[in-house]
Amino acid sequence: MTVAPLFELSWRGGVTEQRLHRRRPGAEDLPWGSLDLSGAAPDTVVEARRIWTNGVFTEYASAAAFAALGTALLESGAPVDLTAAAADMVVDELFHVELSSRLTTEMGGAVPLRFDLEKISPLTSPGVRALMRAAELAVTTSCVSETLSVPAMARSRAMASAPLVRAVLDRLLADEGPHARLGYWFLEWAADRLTDAERARLAELAVETIEVYAPIWAEPECSSCAAPVGLGGHDERGRDALRTAVTTSIAVPLARHGIVLDAERVTSTLGRT
Ligand SMILES: [Fe+2]
Ligand SMILES: [Fe+2]
Repeated sequence: MTVAPLFELSWRGGVTEQRLHRRRPGAEDLPWGSLDLSGAAPDTVVEARRIWTNGVFTEYASAAAFAALGTALLESGAPVDLTAAAADMVVDELFHVELSSRLTTEMGGAVPLRFDLEKISPLTSPGVRALMRAAELAVTTSCVSETLSVPAMARSRAMASAPLVRAVLDRLLADEGPHARLGYWFLEWAADRLTDAERARLAELAVETIEVYAPIWAEPECSSCAAPVGLGGHDERGRDALRTAVTTSIAVPLARHGIVLDAERVTSTLGRT
């Protein structure tokens, strides 16, 4: 068995850093250096480092997903401003990578995470046309994944007590709303251009993607785990917000574009009968 390489990031600095910070100002205004972990249990700090290491990875994966979506939008002749928005979201996500990495460092550094970056880009169904590639990526990345990240992050923000954690989550959250809407902006343009079979396939993919996230709300809460409430963790109310988002922010708006999810599968994913 081959072991995946460690997930490690690098930073060039200089003119490329200046360019990024001109486009995404404000990083230096955050209260870096203010994190006081002296009262936190060691297990809690390790769990917070694990959560934020995973956060850095998911931000990086989101950048790859929006980059793939941008390419598919270019190849399908999508409206230029819509494509520009997707491309700009790649930069948002890379800025989130920077902020999350710096926060992780202040918590004591990343925990080891193995992933082969050659596999970071999301896959689309083999042989489909560019419009369908764009639709698959828009639905899975924006309409489902980004949409679920909004309530998850909002709950972490509501529970966070450390000013630095709150400031980072505020900055991340400010971008997530448009990230979750991009897929629906795309569907306003594309839905009529898709066939019934393509819309049915998109509904299937949306449910499959929701099922990937289901363990977040389905697994019983671990009473012995060190939930880092003030450092970006989750609780039962956050899980309920995710379940609600599946219906109100995914299933209902997708149906408006003719992408009708299998109600039985969605219900069973939510753990409701
Ligand atoms: Fe993000
Ligand atoms: Fe995002």
